[in-house]
Amino acid sequence: MLDGKEGYAVKKSMEILAALGDIFGAESLIDVGSVQVAGVSYHNLGDAGLEFLDSLAADGRVKVLTTLNPAGMDLENWQQLGISPEFAEKQNLVIDAFKRMGILVSCTCTPYLIGNLPLYGEHLAWSESSAVTFANSVLGAKTNREGGPSALAAAFVGKTPCYGLHLDENRVPDVHVQVNAQLGKLSDWGALGYAVGKKAENKIPFITGIKSADMDSLKSFCASVVTYGAKPLFYMQGVTPGAEIQKKPKESVAIEPTDIQNAYDSINDPVSDIDFVCVGCPHCSIKEIQQIADLIAGKKVASGTELWVATSRTAKQLADKRGYTATIETAGGKFACDTCMAVAPLKGRFKALATTSAKGCFYSRQNLMKTKMGSMKECIDAAVTGKWNS
Ligand code: F3S
Repeated sequence: MLDGKEGYAVKKSMEILAALGDIFGAESLIDVGSVQVAGVSYHNLGDAGLEFLDSLAADGRVKVLTTLNPAGMDLENWQQLGISPEFAEKQNLVIDAFKRMGILVSCTCTPYLIGNLPLYGEHLAWSESSAVTFANSVLGAKTNREGGPSALAAAFVGKTPCYGLHLDENRVPDVHVQVNAQLGKLSDWGALGYAVGKKAENKIPFITGIKSADMDSLKSFCASVVTYGAKPLFYMQGVTPGAEIQKKPKESVAIEPTDIQNAYDSINDPVSDIDFVCVGCPHCSIKEIQQIADLIAGKKVASGTELWVATSRTAKQLADKRGYTATIETAGGKFACDTCMAVAPLKGRFKALATTSAKGCFYSRQNLMKTKMGSMKECIDAAVTGKWNS
């Protein structure tokens, strides 16, 4: 492969993987079951990135199931979201390059909800941090947090260097986190992720004290805990497969109700006027879309405020069939499929965001927005009134 016998894309990919393997001391390559590629938004890639992808697409074809992270726009409905034709043209060229490589143009950070669902113990090369954390910690698969190029390289080769979180010795929890706080609404899980991330900085937490967790709360927690400092792997008693065979670490910290409140206090800015409500970070599940439809039915989004429902196109298609799309759009809400608030070109466009997501707040602050985090109901209320009411 390095000699170029399988073409340019494979040669380039092997160079990337061999260099990574050298840096991290990998002794071998390991087969991957699937790949998830980040670095899809033209906003982040620019012309240099597009040129690189184009050169790989000339002869590169992926060897394993490969899905994409969100792009910089809704691929079908970009005009409604205020994306410029110039940006759309470039973004479409990026997508076209990925298509030629044989990649599934799914554009979501919840690949596990649309058919890229790994098994316990399966090795992967995934990129997006919340998806990586979900794969490692909820599904029990094994993946490092790949960069866009190294994930793509793994897709062309079908293998990744065996180091880091592919090795059991690097998957040992090193801090026990006892949660003594009650968790209710979805955003509490983002706040918990913030608190755990700060206390378990760059460590692997072993979390106890969680009474119950559903899929939506876990995906929210995964997004938050890795954004705010922990490694993209945790063990949660009663959730993570194999948690029961791990030894509880000696180092121990507790999360008290005050830690959850402090997380909200850090994430929430003192603003009341809201001009942007974006839910779906990570991308909304069909259950969350149903909740949004139920909350907004018969109401109207306030003038001067936009409501975006970020989700995968697959979830949106289910929502179309169930009538949730019609309910949300009749109320003035917009679907933002294939994209999200962090990778769309939004800098300077909105002043204040309301969202359910702690991770969404982190990235929106980089886009110069003030942020408010709360429940789905609080967010939909903000969309309808243009105000943060709690
Ligand atoms: Fe997904 Fe974008 Fe949030 S990639 S986790 S919706 S910042």
